[in-house]
Amino acid sequence: MQYKSGMTLILEPSNEAIARAADILKSGGLVGLPTETVYGLAADAENGKAVARIYEAKARPAFNPLIVHVADIAAAERVAVFDARARVLAAQFWPGPLTLVLPLRPDSGIDPLVTAGLETVAVRMPAHKVAQDVLRAYGKPLAAPSANPSGGLSPTSPAHVAKGLGEQVGMILAGGRSDVGLESTVIDVSGDVPFLLRHGAVTRDVLASALDTAIAESTEDDHAPKSPGQTLRHYAPSVPLRLKAVDVATGEALLAFGPTRFMSMKEGGAVTQLPYTSIRNLSEEGDLTEAAANLFRFLHDLDQPAHKAIAVMDIPDQGLGRAINDRLKRGAQS
Ligand code: TXA
Ligand code: MG
Repeated sequence: MQYKSGMTLILEPSNEAIARAADILKSGGLVGLPTETVYGLAADAENGKAVARIYEAKARPAFNPLIVHVADIAAAERVAVFDARARVLAAQFWPGPLTLVLPLRPDSGIDPLVTAGLETVAVRMPAHKVAQDVLRAYGKPLAAPSANPSGGLSPTSPAHVAKGLGEQVGMILAGGRSDVGLESTVIDVSGDVPFLLRHGAVTRDVLASALDTAIAESTEDDHAPKSPGQTLRHYAPSVPLRLKAVDVATGEALLAFGPTRFMSMKEGGAVTQLPYTSIRNLSEEGDLTEAAANLFRFLHDLDQPAHKAIAVMDIPDQGLGRAINDRLKRGAQS
């Protein structure tokens, strides 16, 4: 099946469509593709002009480096220097939602624009079948940030990519909804102490037990974050987010978590009176994995000019809740 959303070509991932994606990548173009975390905007990581197009399409600051996606561990080892810890993590979590920041190999072939000139590189082997098919068909590493305008909501469906990037992407491969729904966990193992740069589905505790060591993490008031992307407002819808809401004002939408029977409208009445377009529940059962998978999709749904804000119920700050709250806090920053 092939259809156009506006001017953007969205294709089901047939062999033919994958071959076409590889052709676009070879000619320096951009391809939107599904991964298990979020949809990525891919370009040939060795082609500086192609990588420059990613920054341009997303209006992303060029000091914020991109993740290099590889088909397998052998390909990752051609890009980055792996030590024993990196091997343990790759063996345990790849393919999957974990990105490793490692020393860049001098002979990696990766264009310096990908790493923003750093001596480290972020690498990940995605688990989504379509991402793997494209990587294998193309045979070279792909730089791929999330396929959304810089600072905005991340995409978890082909329609989100088309909505955010439109004609700037050569084609989008459709691969359903992203299962995890949040970007990969990023851990820096290039130095002596492993450092968590971004929360995600692979939690800090799980990483600490895999490496059998403590994992450092920057604090909220750390003014020298090690990951350039962490300095920025991010994951923000167009309408403001109001966190830890205990009620809903007139004109607001509600992003609920768990039972809503104790939530009411500020002006009186139950939130169940809200129209369908103004209420989403991340997980009625209070399941954090389900909530993570729904987060960006529901924020996209509620991000409508008719709403003066999105009231978000409190989400427990444990396990995957850390990663969800991290996104919400950055999205609420003004
Ligand atoms: O789940 C994901 O990781 C998705 C999918 C498409 O794979 N990709 C993604 O890429 O989220 P992006 O570019 O939106 O996020 C990359 C993050 C940024 O916060 C960036 O600053 C950080 O990784 N990063 C990349 N290279 C780095 C490096 N050498 N040192 C420190 N942080 C780095
Ligand atoms: Mg992003």
